[in-house]
Amino acid sequence: MDGENLRRELADITKSLRRTLERELHAGGGDLIATAAKQKRKMAAKSGAGTAPAPAAAAEEIDLFGEPAPTKPAKVTPVTAFEAPAPLPALDPGARAAIARAAEPVLAKIAEEVRACRSCALWETRGQAVPGVGSALAGIVFVGEAPGAEEDRLGEPFVGRGGQLLDRIIKAMDDARLIPGLRLDRSTVFIGNVLHCRPPENRVPLAFEVEQSSPHLRRQLEALQPRIICCLGKTAAEHLLGSKASLASMRGRVYRVYGAKLIVTYHPAAVLRNPELKRPVWEDMQLLAREYQTE
Ligand code: URA
Repeated sequence: MDGENLRRELADITKSLRRTLERELHAGGGDLIATAAKQKRKMAAKSGAGTAPAPAAAAEEIDLFGEPAPTKPAKVTPVTAFEAPAPLPALDPGARAAIARAAEPVLAKIAEEVRACRSCALWETRGQAVPGVGSALAGIVFVGEAPGAEEDRLGEPFVGRGGQLLDRIIKAMDDARLIPGLRLDRSTVFIGNVLHCRPPENRVPLAFEVEQSSPHLRRQLEALQPRIICCLGKTAAEHLLGSKASLASMRGRVYRVYGAKLIVTYHPAAVLRNPELKRPVWEDMQLLAREYQTE
């Protein structure tokens, strides 16, 4: 085959692969897309046209939310997402402020509906429903599993011990200026859950409960127009990616859902049980910051 024919054939194969992946994306096949991205990166590296090396990790100077700073820079393996099917939502602070203003009444209405929701039996055992907290200002959304005892008592997500750790993680990101020029705290990011009512004894959510509660999360995400979503733990990742893969295999990859990028990290409760997870979580926050700032 001469050079021109080979070039044409390769272009056809690329087009066809791309169509298949885009179909997968619309069908929720984020896993396949991330895998394809990984494959593409490998091929590019082999051909010498690899992606730029990861910027030096900023973790050296950073107190890992209460732990001593690591002696070595964090090792991060970013995975570039497959070509975005649509541009990411705005990064510019003025445009983000406009998105946040428009989202505010929508989020308030969803919160009202969550508080009135009786779609599954959890309303009978809940103290308070927990709609979510924060804004669309930063364009970053953290999604957990379901409210625990403290959240149920106060009506706000992530206010127990796990929540205090999440606050420290967000503060560490802010202190380290992981995203220069962007203030990060509970008011500029959004923190939500797959379930909006506490399951008795904090048991794992039932499929029916997720089915009834998750449309609230979907509408929140539509209003928030995040640039990046961070799944805290397996329940959020399974739900938003429609994948039963292990959490370890979902980490370090970048997916695309709801027009945003999405990454997966350990749940703060898991980090409280196993402090060794602090370092991988910090690496995930560095990945989040890098992906947030690129298209
Ligand atoms: N764990 C979660 O997943 N969500 C909360 O809001 C609190 C604890």
